[in-house]
Amino acid sequence: MDYKIRTATRKELDIAVEWAAKEGWNPGLHDADTFYLTDTQGYYFGFLGEEPIASISAVAYDQKFGFMGFYIVKPEYRGKGYGLQIWNEALKHLPTQNISLDGVAAQQENYKKSGFKLAYGNIRYEGKGSDDKLDDKNIVSLSQVQFDQLVSYDNQVFPTERRLFLQNWIMQPESLSVAFINERNILGYGTVRKCRVGFKVGPLFADNETIADALFFKLKSSVGGQESIFLDVPEVNKTAVKLADSYKMKPMFQTARMYTKEQPKNDLNKIFGVTTFELG
Ligand SMILES: CC(C)(COP(=O)(O)OP(=O)(O)OC[C@H]1O[C@@H](n2cnc3c(N)ncnc32)[C@H](O)[C@@H]1OP(=O)(O)O)[C@@H](O)C(=O)NCCC(=O)NCCS
Repeated sequence: MDYKIRTATRKELDIAVEWAAKEGWNPGLHDADTFYLTDTQGYYFGFLGEEPIASISAVAYDQKFGFMGFYIVKPEYRGKGYGLQIWNEALKHLPTQNISLDGVAAQQENYKKSGFKLAYGNIRYEGKGSDDKLDDKNIVSLSQVQFDQLVSYDNQVFPTERRLFLQNWIMQPESLSVAFINERNILGYGTVRKCRVGFKVGPLFADNETIADALFFKLKSSVGGQESIFLDVPEVNKTAVKLADSYKMKPMFQTARMYTKEQPKNDLNKIFGVTTFELG
């Protein structure tokens, strides 16, 4: 049967999200809406006849930076060359970009063969929300902060400006986004969102450990003590690892952050939680 690859519709992206859930990646309930709008031409499916059997994303934030994810072939079709074909097709969408990804251990060697270089590991930590509340006058809803200010703060920490992504990400249903401000300056911000299992915090960006802790505590206490909470931490940021440890969170999954070009110069010491493993 003919194998055909084409860009995915928004509805088809839900299939990839379903496959991601089966892989145990625990997608956020509303991730797909923001993901798709960030680059509507960045999602691909491979079909055998009418049946979707392979997915991948290759999101172009701009001409300089792109991110790959959702690289999944339906289990019964693996090892037959369908994955590599959709991979190569998706790469054509990112001809000029420094391309990044968060790879699972099993695929790292393949990505190296495809020209990706290991930058550092990210660790997914699992813990519990909290029933304790603590008012911190420096923490405000992100809607109270000027959007341009947020975009500019985010760009100190993320490899490129991601105005479109942020616009949708912080407005998604079943989520809370807060900022830590001091005399109108943003010193950190974070989002917590509902996932298939519990909640994920991402991003959690902050100027220092105390601010990260205050933001994390606020986000964690917004979901309640019964819920699981997940935080994806770059292991090179030792203060972030310390923060996860201080809440007795347990490592449960690891990825390799890789880039095709130079590792971007953004400040990893401000990343206490990665935004997502699918879009960076
Ligand atoms: C990863 C996955 C999508 C690969 O798809 P696949 O259809 O099984 O792979 P293929 O049959 O096309 O692989 C053909 C060959 O290309 C290699 N290959 C696959 N992807 C590659 C890549 N991105 N770069 C270089 N080589 C690659 C394979 O190792 C294989 O090499 P071999 O012939 O020497 O054994 C699939 O195994 C899968 O869905 N895994 C579970 C989900 C997952 O972990 N995804 C990766 C997340 S980071």
